[in-house]
Amino acid sequence: MKSFAVNLFALLLFFAAAGCGGDSSTAANDSSKPKPKSMVADEPDPMENKGIGPITSVTLGATVDAAMAEEGRKVYEKMCTACHKPTEKFIGPAPIGVLDRRSPEWIMNMILNPEQMVKEDPIAKKLLMEFNGSPMANQHLTEQEARAVLEYFRTL
Ligand code: HEC
Repeated sequence: MKSFAVNLFALLLFFAAAGCGGDSSTAANDSSKPKPKSMVADEPDPMENKGIGPITSVTLGATVDAAMAEEGRKVYEKMCTACHKPTEKFIGPAPIGVLDRRSPEWIMNMILNPEQMVKEDPIAKKLLMEFNGSPMANQHLTEQEARAVLEYFRTL
């Protein structure tokens, strides 16, 4: 009789512990912040990725700087249209909406430092695979030209 009581006690303890485990994991899930729907649990937010290269911080104006965008359009038409169409996929992706997918720093680093980006940056590595190994070309823009192209991308 005594050992039965001990066993029952042990059993109750077991269930109590199992119950607690369940509760605490639910609580942890409830307290975690809601994630944007595009985000997979173990993938970092792409907009947090600034890429690898000379650009660490870009400030975009509240409105588009039309003169800078026009300068960027000229650079883009001369240096980029061999592989990019503004609004359709071509040899490379269409830049339309790129500012919604990538941080401004990432975009400029991709323009200025593509060789290292496609080797080391997780997003650029994936893009290279998506585009069957054809790499983004370094067109040797100056930082100012790359910044102007970025402004032009805001107008697409
Ligand atoms: C020789 C072809 C080629 C040229 C020229 C080229 N690109 Fe690219 N670009 C690509 C390819 C291919 C990709 C996607 C695959 C990769 O990243 O390797 C890409 C990717 C990009 C991306 C990333 C787009 C995204 O959706 O994340 C940006 C931004 C970009 N290019 C901008 C430019 C700009 C600006 C120029 C001109 C200064 C330029 N590219 C010139 C081929 C090119």
